[in-house]
Amino acid sequence: MTTDEITDLLTGAYIDELETVMNYQTNAIVLDGIHAEEVKTSLEEDIQEELGHAEMLGERLKQLDESPPGSEAFEANQHSLQPPEDTTDVQSVIEGVLEAEESAIETYRSLIEAATEANDPVTEDVAVTILADEEAHRTEFRGFQKEFPMD
Ligand SMILES: [Fe+2]
Ligand SMILES: [Fe+2]
Repeated sequence: MTTDEITDLLTGAYIDELETVMNYQTNAIVLDGIHAEEVKTSLEEDIQEELGHAEMLGERLKQLDESPPGSEAFEANQHSLQPPEDTTDVQSVIEGVLEAEESAIETYRSLIEAATEANDPVTEDVAVTILADEEAHRTEFRGFQKEFPMD
């Protein structure tokens, strides 16, 4: 059985994934300097996964007889992931990515909880699969954070 909470979480997560794609893509392009290369490569790989997440969420909404939203439903939230004024400021992008991944992890944990309560194992499975990817992204960027400690 699906619930409004489940479709709201799926819809919100779909939008968040697409905002993440936009900001990771922008930062993968704008960062400069030798310290940026690894982070840029990692962002480029993650973009494909985040896009895959949006696709899985959209397909699940369709299966639940709902439509994923278009751009008019979009509201920007990732203030800490805007391209830095200083394009060598790799640290600020790492911090922004960690914030986005933490927020995604929280969303998918809520979705797992709501799906379990509603006895919707298919949505639960989608959320568990995506959660595993987001935790891996967080680990990757925690590693970068160790190389670029905050002052
Ligand atoms: Fe994602
Ligand atoms: Fe992610």
